[in-house]
Amino acid sequence: MPVVALVGGQWGDEGKGKVIDSIAARANMVVRFAGGDNAGHTTVNPYGTFRLHLIPSGVFYKSVRCIIGNGVVVNPAVLLREIAELKEHGVSADNLLVSDRAHLIMPYHTLLDRLEEERRGQGAIGTTQRGIGPAFVDKVARTGLRVGDLLYPGMFRERLECVMEQKNALLTSMYGHPGLSVDEVYEQYIAFGKQLRAHITDTLPVIHEAMNRGEIILLEGAQGALLDTDLGTYPYVTSSSPLAGGATTGSGIGPTAISSVIGVFKAYATRVGGGPMPTELKDEMGQFIREKAGEYGATTGRPRRCGWFDAVAGRFSVLINGMTEVALTHLDIFDGFSSIKVCTGYRVGGKTLKAFPPRVETVAECQPVYEEFPGWTECTEDIDRFSLLPANAQAYIRTIARLLGCPVTLVSMGPKREQMIEVRL
Ligand code: IMO
Ligand code: MG
Repeated sequence: MPVVALVGGQWGDEGKGKVIDSIAARANMVVRFAGGDNAGHTTVNPYGTFRLHLIPSGVFYKSVRCIIGNGVVVNPAVLLREIAELKEHGVSADNLLVSDRAHLIMPYHTLLDRLEEERRGQGAIGTTQRGIGPAFVDKVARTGLRVGDLLYPGMFRERLECVMEQKNALLTSMYGHPGLSVDEVYEQYIAFGKQLRAHITDTLPVIHEAMNRGEIILLEGAQGALLDTDLGTYPYVTSSSPLAGGATTGSGIGPTAISSVIGVFKAYATRVGGGPMPTELKDEMGQFIREKAGEYGATTGRPRRCGWFDAVAGRFSVLINGMTEVALTHLDIFDGFSSIKVCTGYRVGGKTLKAFPPRVETVAECQPVYEEFPGWTECTEDIDRFSLLPANAQAYIRTIARLLGCPVTLVSMGPKREQMIEVRL
C-alpha cells in the first residue's frame, strides 16, 4: 500500500515539481492535495520546460493518472489554459481528473486578494494574488462554490447570486469598487464547466480503488511547511495546509495509508513574499545565490529572498510532517563555494534556541548561529552516484541528514529529470 506524500520542507519552491517528475515514472497516480495556482512547479523534461500551477507534475507520463484533489482551490480559467499549453507541447491531459469537491476560485476572490493586500500596506503578506486566501475563507465560511457545482447551472446560479450580493456589498462599501456582474460571472463559469466536464468527477472512489489494487500513489504537496496556516510563520502563511496532514484531508486518504513522507528541501533557503526568514542574506552572497540558481518566482516572477540552510526551521518541519526521508535539491548551486554555512540555532533575548519559535515576532528577532563547512570545487551537475560526489559534498549531505534527524535519500543537481541521485548512507 505505497502511498507517498511529498511535501515542501521550507517556504515553498524547494523543487517539488522536479522530484515528482523524476519519481513519477514508478507511480500510477499523482494527486495534488492543497493550495491552488499559487504553486509554481518547474519541470524540465524531454517535452520542454514547464511551470505547472495546478496540474500535478506526473502529467508527463501517459500511464500516470493525475488528480486535482478535493483540498485544492481551482481557478478554471488557469486550469484550462494549462491544459491547452500542455497540449501545444504534445502532452495530453486526458488522464487528468478534478475532484468535484474542490472549491472554485471566483473572480471576486482574485479581486479581493489584490484589494486586501493593498489595504494591508506595510503589513502585506506578499500573496501571489491568485485569490487563494479569499477562496479558502469562503470554503471555511461555507459560502464557497465547488467544481462539481458547475455541472448544475440552476443551483450554481442561485448560490452565486446569494454570495455575490455579499461580495458586491463588500467591494463597493469597503473598497469603492463598482462590483462584478452576476450574469457575466455565471456565463463565464458555466462555459468553463462545459469545457471541463470530462475531467470533473468524484475522485475518491478512483483513489481508493487504486489503493486497493496496491498502486503507487504520490501525493504532491504545494507550498512548504513554514507556510502552513496553523504551524507556519502566521500570519505570513498561505491559507491551506501544505503538511503531510493536509495530504490526507486534501485527497481523502486516511493517515494510516501513508507509507512514507518525503520532505523536499533546497540545499540553501529561499522565501518569496513577506514574513521573517532568519537566514536571509541581504548581501552579495544572497544576490549570488539568487542569480546562480535563478531564484525568481515561477508564479509571480518576484526575486526570491535567499540564505543559508536553516536546520532549526528544517528540524521543525521534519517533526510537524512526520517526514521519513528527505530529498535535497539544488546541491550544485554550491559547486565552487569555498565554504558553506548552516544555521544550527537562533540567538534571541540572550538565549540560544534550538526549537522553532511559535511567535512570528520572535522569529523576526532571531539571529542565526552558524556552523561552517568546507565546500568543493568540482561540478556536481552530471554526477550520477553518491560515491562519486566530492567528499565535502557527501559530508554536507550527511550533515543535513544529522541536523534534520531524517535520512536524505535523494539528492538533485540541476533542473533535468535525470539529474537525481539515490542516496544510501
Ligand atoms: P510552491 O508550490 C513559494 C507564498 C506567497 C506568500 C504566501 C501567501 O511553488 O512551492 P498565497 O498566494 O498563497 O495567499 O500567498 O505564501 N507562497 C509561495 N511561496 N512557493 C509557493 O508554492 C507558494 N505559494 C504561496 O509568496 O508569501
Ligand atoms: Mg513557487
